Amino acid sequence: MKGIEIISTGTGLGSRVMTNDDFSKIVETDDEWIYTRTGIRSRHFCDENENNLSLATAAAKQALERAGISREEVGCVVCATVTPTYASPSTACLLQRELKLPGDIPVLDINAACAGFIYGLEVARGLLSSGDRPYGIVIGVEELSKVIDMTDRSTCVLFGDGAGAAVVRADKDLLFEDYLGAKGGLEIFIEGVGSEKSTVHMEGREVFRFAVSAIPKVINAIFEKSGKTLEDVDHCICHQANARIIDHVVKKYKAPEEKFYKNMEHFGNTSAASIPIAMNEMCEKGMIKKDETLLLVGFGGGLTMAGAMLKYRGVNI
Ligand code: UT7
Repeated sequence: MKGIEIISTGTGLGSRVMTNDDFSKIVETDDEWIYTRTGIRSRHFCDENENNLSLATAAAKQALERAGISREEVGCVVCATVTPTYASPSTACLLQRELKLPGDIPVLDINAACAGFIYGLEVARGLLSSGDRPYGIVIGVEELSKVIDMTDRSTCVLFGDGAGAAVVRADKDLLFEDYLGAKGGLEIFIEGVGSEKSTVHMEGREVFRFAVSAIPKVINAIFEKSGKTLEDVDHCICHQANARIIDHVVKKYKAPEEKFYKNMEHFGNTSAASIPIAMNEMCEKGMIKKDETLLLVGFGGGLTMAGAMLKYRGVNI
């Protein structure tokens, strides 16, 4: 089985910015509560001309342009999302047509909630291992504003819309170590097809408890398998659900704070999109440099948990 590395990243964000003050006009809340409990100050929502597909397309297009590869070299598209515009066809299929990608490659959506982007990397790795084309596109995209209950203050203030994409390259002998798992459970759920309404429900405290134990579990499993330590990692990018979750992990590992990036302040929790959005932002800021080692860690609905250690081999933007 081949390993994979990140060649380039891209992003697509809803263009309507919603601040905490905007929410305080809708539900009984305030900036102080939201920021101190979550680290979030604002988030992007789609406007009437945007949706899951348009965000995913913008992100994938930007990543493809930055990679400087031809469409013919793309061997798969894996799109992680829990908020597709259509239950069928998949966002990946529509994006394939939109970007004029080859017609003889596997393109599919997956649902592993907030761990979806990392699950997507592993799916792409498998698909590229058995194909001839070297590159894949992995996307995390969500339009969570469509499934937010605007009367529930305990959830509506948390989420945002956005997409992050990566062009990955598969080859043998690349550093790639991952850990994927799930515990099952309905601590976070969105009703499915046929339901009268479709909104996010979450038992916040339970999920918080799960998150602070899942992240070290994933990190330790990857270190055990790879023989690496935190010293070997240049940047750790965790799912951006809550600043306090990441602070907890930093403290546990007595790690330098700057090794664990946080950007939920301006994006909120964008589920499957949060890790690639953060990775893209770091690349754009020049924080991630060519050949650096990344450790990505996600956790979320279904009590999924996932981590991947791999190289950023890409272009400095
Ligand atoms: O992406 C998937 C993974 N998701 C997560 O990782 C989320 C994990 N959970 C969390 O981040 C936190 O549990 C939350 C941010 C969701 C909630 O923070 P908390 O410290 O666990 O608060 P809580 O739910 O225990 O609520 C504390 C109080 C309650 O009031 P009482 O019962 O103590 O009087 C809530 O009604 O805060 C109240 N509250 C609010 N107050 C003002 C809940 N939401 C709000 C709000 N504004 N928006």
